[in-house]
Amino acid sequence: MAKLFHEYFENRDGLLYIDGVSVLKLAEEFDTPLYVMSERRIRDNFRQLSKALTERNSKVKIYYSAKANTSLSVLKILLSEGACLDAVSPGEVFLAFRAGFSPDKILFTGTSVRNDELKFLAESEVTINVDSLSQLKRLLRFHVPSLLSVRVNPEVGAGHHEHVVTGGKASKFGIWEGDVVEAYKIAMKAGVKKFGIQMHIGSGNLTVEPYLEAIEKQLQIASRVKKEVGVDFEFIDIGGGIGVPYRPEEKPINIDEFAEKIMKLYKNKIKEYDLDEPWVYLEPGRFIICDAVVLLTEVNTVKVTPFRKFAGVDAGFNTFIRPAMYGSYHPIIVANKLNESEKELYDIAGPLCESGDLLARERKLPRIEEGDLLAVLNAGAYGFSMSSQYNSRPRCAEVLVKDGKYALVRERETLETLLERQLLPPWLK
Ligand code: LLP
Repeated sequence: MAKLFHEYFENRDGLLYIDGVSVLKLAEEFDTPLYVMSERRIRDNFRQLSKALTERNSKVKIYYSAKANTSLSVLKILLSEGACLDAVSPGEVFLAFRAGFSPDKILFTGTSVRNDELKFLAESEVTINVDSLSQLKRLLRFHVPSLLSVRVNPEVGAGHHEHVVTGGKASKFGIWEGDVVEAYKIAMKAGVKKFGIQMHIGSGNLTVEPYLEAIEKQLQIASRVKKEVGVDFEFIDIGGGIGVPYRPEEKPINIDEFAEKIMKLYKNKIKEYDLDEPWVYLEPGRFIICDAVVLLTEVNTVKVTPFRKFAGVDAGFNTFIRPAMYGSYHPIIVANKLNESEKELYDIAGPLCESGDLLARERKLPRIEEGDLLAVLNAGAYGFSMSSQYNSRPRCAEVLVKDGKYALVRERETLETLLERQLLPPWLK
């Protein structure tokens, strides 16, 4: 049995329940693959982080990083908890507005941003965090915001995979120190009055050390900007990236310790650098949503070769791409056989016509039969939000559960969905 069970997962006579709701019932009613989200777990995760931080510094804001999971229900839940929002595209800004976020609660951080996107952002009145001098200059041509943030590359990067490391020499993100000063000078000259400074080192960090190193660098840059340009900072944003354990041997990050160390460093450094106590922003995505969601997928095929045993399921990397894209390990359990011992090794294979379409390799599980229901745990972050229609498979549905109640919050796409927006040229009609 996976060790990553939390209080809303329950084993009732060998069957998995999430916050009082049988996943077998959900699979029957809504079919599979199906993402099942626990509202209470989302709220608990947010509150845990928020409490740890605000206890140590009342000037903290949490910007939920919507890219991890943009379901409207998730956004609404987090808004009601007092979250702000980190958006990365006009689409995320649009969804945030629909969920009820006001522009002053949205920080946009994009890279390779187009001019029409900058116009959309300016009209939306969200705060913009610029990622390059090019972006800044293009923005200032038609819009001088009252508040502007600059994303710096703190020369420190960290993350669970090289694809998600966003600081350091090879990274496309952020502005290098020399140009940071220039960026603030340009903005100030153009008439910007208030400023923030942002960074994001990478994703899936289970230790606080890289943050400490990066924050030190970020504040050093901030102090240089203050000295050379005369900028006082409204906020410093230390980005997201707080990891969660996926493998049984991984330990969760101690959030109180994380908050303690970060705030201690922050307080020392703002004194040392004579910075006027800016707000501290964080942009967690994964930490808030990851373990609140499981992906249910049904076994349709059991195939035994002289070399391996495959359990063929209906969720492939069209539904959940993390294992294929990053080689990520996700705990998998047989949701209808929780009391059976794990005695066989399986490869869990999706339905796509690619050899890399595997959710797991050599996973020790109870004996699997056709019709069994698997639950992929920790599927909430970058799960649905990275899903696609590859192999012309309609995207799956999402259900929200709360204290024994449940509701469909995203309908399953249909075959008709595959035709949406497709047009035929006159000569093929
Ligand atoms: N802020 C910025 C500027 C970011 O680029 C990201 C993530 C976050 C915040 C939130 O990071 P989090 O707290 O969720 O780690 N698809 C990958 C992760 C990509 C993260 C991209 N940026 C995965 O599945 O691991």
